[in-house]
Amino acid sequence: MLTRYRVIQRLSTSISWDSSYIFLQTLRQKTHRPDTCGWDGLRYIALMPQTNLLLGVNIDHVVTLRQARYRAMPESPHAEPSVLAAALAAEAAGADSITVHLRADRRHIQDADVYLLRKSIGTKMNLEMGNTPEILDIALQVRPDFVCMVPENREEVTTEGGLDVAGQRDALRRTVKALSDNGTRVSMFVDPDLEQIRASAEIGAAMIELHTGTFANHTGAERDAEVERLCAAAELGHALGLQINAGHGLTTKNLPALWPVPHLAELNIGHHLVSRAVFIGLHGAVREMLAIMATYRN
Ligand code: PXP
Repeated sequence: MLTRYRVIQRLSTSISWDSSYIFLQTLRQKTHRPDTCGWDGLRYIALMPQTNLLLGVNIDHVVTLRQARYRAMPESPHAEPSVLAAALAAEAAGADSITVHLRADRRHIQDADVYLLRKSIGTKMNLEMGNTPEILDIALQVRPDFVCMVPENREEVTTEGGLDVAGQRDALRRTVKALSDNGTRVSMFVDPDLEQIRASAEIGAAMIELHTGTFANHTGAERDAEVERLCAAAELGHALGLQINAGHGLTTKNLPALWPVPHLAELNIGHHLVSRAVFIGLHGAVREMLAIMATYRN
């Protein structure tokens, strides 16, 4: 309620009509919603949870569902659910970026999905990728806004641990340079391990994404200990000039326990949002998440 009041107050007192018009036009482009202009737009903004913490919505599992039925013909006009419709729904609900992981085994996201999203979404694209020449070539053609380098293992159900940046400095440094020179900001998905944070800064990454899997899988004293590790990692990364993101296993339930971690700029969340979407729709799931994220104080 207070947030809504603040937004209306800000719009009515401190923003000139010119700048609020530009703001509404930007929002309209961002959300693909023609109704986000005029008084409807003001109402839409007033109702949108306000947070400085950005949300990247990972839509891999929308495609997991499509592939379960249409693996042999993912581009068929009958193939559903639509990856693009999911991205646009997430954006309309307030997502700041759309994240997809193009895996070497193509178990969910396909090359065509990446190209379609790149030309169609209105927010930023974050491509998760393993450090292989094949996927790097695609990333250089697609030119996503962000790349998050992740470890990849064919046997795993999902990304299971952070990247060993310290152990692969030379190979990763070359990839980071190629992507950065091509206009993409690069992040390293790492465990909250200080050696990995230092190595990420040293090879020229702009960001780290802290792996929150251990945090998400524990409660009580074990989770508290992991929060302390995440805090130390975030402090060090920030001091080294890295943007601090986080992701893996985050839900509306466990997020408040993450809030002691300082300097968080962006969260990447997938499985929980797609799971919630089964019951309340993707728009509702993203809104619910943004409402919790609005309680983060950096
Ligand atoms: N960040 C990275 C680097 C990931 O690999 C994943 C899982 O694909 C996520 C975030 C999202 O994790 P979850 O689906 O558990 O929200």
